[in-house]
Amino acid sequence: MVIGAAPAPAPELEPLRHLPDRPLTAAELDALVGELTHRPEIAAAGAALSPAAGDRRWAHVHRDAHLDVWVIAWTAGSDTGWHDHDASAGAFSVVAGQVTERRPRLDGTHRVRTFASGGASFGPEHVHRISGDAPLSVSVHAYSPPLRRMGHYELGDDGTLRRLLVTYDDEP
Ligand SMILES: [Fe+2]
Repeated sequence: MVIGAAPAPAPELEPLRHLPDRPLTAAELDALVGELTHRPEIAAAGAALSPAAGDRRWAHVHRDAHLDVWVIAWTAGSDTGWHDHDASAGAFSVVAGQVTERRPRLDGTHRVRTFASGGASFGPEHVHRISGDAPLSVSVHAYSPPLRRMGHYELGDDGTLRRLLVTYDDEP
């Protein structure tokens, strides 16, 4: 499910160097987004997104055979919903503002982590949702292999959980 989300034109990103010619590990993605957090193009891309209140917007800033990178701007209360990243490992880092990541527990006592800086990395097994906590937050996200599909989770009419496949064109 996409809530108030809209893609945005992609800005230019300085070439990424020193990348291995293979899929990156979660640790390598973590290091990459940590570096990108300090790139002025990333901050500029986030500032240009200007989502409306309650929305989030994103820009796709890099894609090659092994990696894609997105910048996401969040407003307070904007929320991805529960999802996974199909076959991709990923990492995110907060550039400005604050976001909260929730990881589901079946008993409802979800694991909650709030980031005003830094972030997290994860493998394809990871299920989470992320929401914006500030009037405007910006984060940078990297996925390897590139994010082609995602699973979104919602409850069916009978209350049971189901996974819906979406493409990366729908949502990062
Ligand atoms: Fe995610």
